[in-house]
Amino acid sequence: MEIIIQETKEAAADVAARIIAGLLRKKPDAVLGLATGSTPLPLYKRLIGMDLDWSGVTTFNLDEYIGLPREHPQSYHSFMWENLFHHINIRPENIHIPDGNAEDIPGFCGEYEKRIHNSGGIDLQVLGIGTDGHIGFNEPTSSLASRTRIKTLTQQTIADNARFFGSEEDVPRHVITMGIGTIMEARQNLLLAFGENKAQAFAEAVEGPITSVNPASILQMHPVAKVCLDEGAASRLQRADYYRWVYDNKPVWQTF
Ligand code: F6R
Repeated sequence: MEIIIQETKEAAADVAARIIAGLLRKKPDAVLGLATGSTPLPLYKRLIGMDLDWSGVTTFNLDEYIGLPREHPQSYHSFMWENLFHHINIRPENIHIPDGNAEDIPGFCGEYEKRIHNSGGIDLQVLGIGTDGHIGFNEPTSSLASRTRIKTLTQQTIADNARFFGSEEDVPRHVITMGIGTIMEARQNLLLAFGENKAQAFAEAVEGPITSVNPASILQMHPVAKVCLDEGAASRLQRADYYRWVYDNKPVWQTF
């Protein structure tokens, strides 16, 4: 895992944006996996400000709430259009976000997996991390081999996400999320973590054992996993000085 620690979340998001921009320039028809929530906001802001051509890019979002109308301000459909898609030249038909109102949700999930496969697979997946270690909405004890499916949010995630809805009661309990197996098939994973409230889950994910109790820890098994974080999220790492040294002294020939 490549761990890139920056002073601020804006600086960390800037590194992540440059990684994505590099991919889009090299591969204009890249397939991106995208995340929502507060973490990717500075990344999307930075990407919007770059001179990038999104006309050939395909995207697949990680997750969506079940039962929330698509137009609801807190649906991940609304989030993605407001914070990224409205501002770039992506083709609407290339955008994929799980349909939390599908009549046959298990059928939809199988179809979503097929679409990812038929697109050639995800080149780069953007991830955030929950305070409980979730990636996507794969909550603790999710199968490490799981595919896109329905999950039930933990009380901790409901409490964390109440800030978007105003109260815990208004946070939907169920979601569709790409599985951990799905995420692990992306050719590259790019995780962002900002703030001290992520420090414990992040340190356990990177320096603890691989365990479904901290789903993000599976990224230790991924051949190309990069993490961009700020000082707050890095504050519980045991080996932070080593990671800083590695990044500051990265040879120019080292592409990964
Ligand atoms: C969102 C997602 C989640 C979030 C995580 C962190 O699409 O998949 O895993 O990345 O809950 O949320 P924030 O960024 O709001 O702290």
